[in-house]
Amino acid sequence: MSDHQQLHDIIAARIAKEGRITFAAFMEACLYEPELGYYTSAGRKVGAEGDFYTSISVHAAFGRVIAREMAQMWRSMGSPAEFTLVECGAGNGRLACDILDYLAEREPVMYGGLSLVLVEREPTLEQAQARLLAQHLEHVRWLAPDEFYSGSFTFSGCLYSNELVDALPVHRVVMTEEGLQEVYVTLKDGELMEEAGALSTPALEEYLQRLGIQLHPGKQAEINLIALEWLTTVAQALQQGFIMTIDYGYPAEELFAPHRMRGTLLCYHRHQTEENPYIRLGQQDITSHVDFTSLMKRGAEIGLQSEWFGEQYRFLMATGIIEELEEVERSDVSEEEKLRIRLALKKLIMPEGMGGIFRVLVQSKGIAEPRLLCQRRIGG
Ligand SMILES: C[S@@+](CC[C@H](N)C(=O)[O-])C[C@H]1O[C@@H](n2cnc3c(N)ncnc32)[C@H](O)[C@@H]1O
Repeated sequence: MSDHQQLHDIIAARIAKEGRITFAAFMEACLYEPELGYYTSAGRKVGAEGDFYTSISVHAAFGRVIAREMAQMWRSMGSPAEFTLVECGAGNGRLACDILDYLAEREPVMYGGLSLVLVEREPTLEQAQARLLAQHLEHVRWLAPDEFYSGSFTFSGCLYSNELVDALPVHRVVMTEEGLQEVYVTLKDGELMEEAGALSTPALEEYLQRLGIQLHPGKQAEINLIALEWLTTVAQALQQGFIMTIDYGYPAEELFAPHRMRGTLLCYHRHQTEENPYIRLGQQDITSHVDFTSLMKRGAEIGLQSEWFGEQYRFLMATGIIEELEEVERSDVSEEEKLRIRLALKKLIMPEGMGGIFRVLVQSKGIAEPRLLCQRRIGG
């Protein structure tokens, strides 16, 4: 039996036993069902041989520039003897490796007291991460999500993630004549089907009310309650320091705008987008755009200060991507290699591409007026 069929049967059995399930429960199974989910099954997901690219696979300069900002965070905290970085959803470890390479080379004092904690729902990625991070192993430790999110782990430093929040399961709602309803997944003649029904939790309506958003009739939208739970949990673990969230998404007003009638849910398979989440179960990625306004609002409720929010290209320009490029230009790498790097960096900062689609949110806790690189005026 194919993995797709096995996962289909598991979801169908759940529906037969418990009745229709929320879209969030369906998405959780598709992405994270042990050994069968998209992220919890074998195989490359990110990069040329996977289904999509992320910024970390474009060029090491992405991680190096983030590392420059982390060094600035460390200074903002008075250059403490110990500083912890936590990466949630670390994938193959590429970003962590680029960050640690930079810090080892350019910030030896900070590097000396640095610990990196990797938290990843797909446990077999630990091998790939350990291979990439071979030079830095005495600074690295792994924590299983259950352990990390249990509340017993606390740290000071910076927790960061790239494309984690878009991979958290979302509820889906639709505005009908009867008011706001939820999209459920049910079974009809053995096939998975959608149906609308009463909300599974009042938190969905409260979410939109808190934003002051009224959906237009017929409009569908995703609501990421898990993202808010995630932020609350990680903010509790953080004693003092920063949370840096990089992902594609918008401020709420733009995300829930009337023209996005069908929301932003999208699947990825072999570098092609697909709108139907009910095919290739466990073999295609399912994502939705991040609502950064809600992350900022929840942050403010739980003691996080929003320090900076904006497009990735603005962040990279202010934190040092041009300096990275200048270093490459001055180096003795071949002209051909320089051209390749120029093109890669352009990909990261073009406002029409990754530079404009992705956004960066930096929140702080317990730090009076940090002076971050991203807060500099571009060119200033
Ligand atoms: C879209 S991938 C991004 C991987 C990597 N950060 C990158 O940019 O290429 C999302 C990753 O987050 C992991 N993940 C999902 N939920 C998680 C959670 N709550 N804590 C830690 N990792 C999680 C998934 O297993 C997956 O590897």
